[in-house]
Parts: sequence; C-alpha cells; structure tokens
Amino acid sequence: MRIDIITVLPELLESPLNHSILKRAQDKNLAEIVVHNLRDYTLDKHRRVDDYPFGGEAGMVMQIEPIDRAISYLKSQRNYDEVIFTTPDGEKFDQRMANNLSMSGNLIFLCGHYKGIDYRIREHLITREVTIGDYVLTGGELAAAIMCDAIVRLIPGAIGDEQSALSDSFQDNLLAPPVYTRPAEYKGWKVPDILLSGHQRKIDEWKHDQALERTRRLRPDLLDE
Ligand code: ADE
Repeated sequence: MRIDIITVLPELLESPLNHSILKRAQDKNLAEIVVHNLRDYTLDKHRRVDDYPFGGEAGMVMQIEPIDRAISYLKSQRNYDEVIFTTPDGEKFDQRMANNLSMSGNLIFLCGHYKGIDYRIREHLITREVTIGDYVLTGGELAAAIMCDAIVRLIPGAIGDEQSALSDSFQDNLLAPPVYTRPAEYKGWKVPDILLSGHQRKIDEWKHDQALERTRRLRPDLLDE
C-alpha cells in the first residue's frame, strides 16, 4: 500500500510517521508513506497556497491550483482508491473505516488548513471527507497521521502478532478485556485468579464477559450498533 500525504506542514508529520509500527511497516515494504509539501506545487516565487475568500469573510482559503497540480501529478503516476480530505465536517473515522481503507492499494490524504479550502476542490478532486472526531484541530496533519497509524497497523505483517490486531478494542464492537503481566501480585494488588488457572476455555469466557461488562459500562453505544 502507498499513502501520499499533501500538506503545508510536512515537518509535523515526520515523527509520527517514522516511529514504531509505521516505521516497521515501511521498513518491511508493507507500506510506503510519502509526504509532499504543497508549496512544491506552486508556480509563483512566494510559494503561495492561500488567498482571501470571495465574499469578504475573515481568514484565508487554500487555493485550488497547487492542490490540483499535486493531485494530478500523483494520479499520473498510479491509480488511487481514495483522495481523502481531512476536515472536521467530514464523515467520522472509526475502526470499520480503518479496516476498509487498510485493504486499499493507494491513498492520498489532503490535509486541510486555514479557514478552509476552495470548495471546488471538495466538489471535483476529493472522493472522501473524513474527521477523526467532533473537535477542531489547527490543521489536518495530526488527523492524517492518526488515520495512517490506524490503517497501516492492520496490514497483515505490520504488527508482529496478527492476532493482536484482531483482538483490538472495537474490532467486534467490544472494548478489549483487561490484560496483566508479572508480577502476579504487587503491593497486595492481585491479578485475577482465573488468568493463572491454566484453564483456557474458562479464561476465554472470562475475557468475553469482561469485554461485555466494560463495553456496557463505558461505551453502551457500541452495543446498540
Ligand atoms: N482538521 C481540523 N480538525 C479536524 C478533525 N477533527 N478531523 C480531521 N481533520 C481536521
């Protein structure tokens, strides 16, 4: 899978995309993530990417030309499954969307900034508009990094133990059960006896009960879905 990210702040993406699972997946050639500075697709000497809005509102608006040039260039190199715009007024990103997108060949993320982007970009160049939650970030870069992380870790081989992606919280609309490791007792705080019993069927039942209980208590909305 290849992910191209178009941004005015490439530095903001450097660290999150080059550590941990995202780094490992790229080292193993499971994913290639390429960050593009939108200013490289401008033609004027000031490398301008925004301008005042028509109709006289406050704030700057990202211009269509550099974005069209960047997306057209990428599309001339390969086919893309989606051109995703990160924006607070998009559809909500969740585990299901991460699962679907992880099966893509190639994706483009366009990170929003300023007051907005020329709406013609959204009408003509973007295939999907996505938010990571009902709050407003300064720009779409961190949202794109979060989505890349959630998507790439699902590619088979990206995390050591494939089973552990399948048992993540949300994979079956249940929160994950608690996990423990040694020591079995610390300051008098004990690991549940059942986990030390060696009785695998009972342990699995316990895990499922815990997952249900935590979901009911913390995220009952997941059980309604
Ligand atoms: N850009 C600003 N806020 C955002 C959000 N919540 N999700 C995605 N992109 C954004």
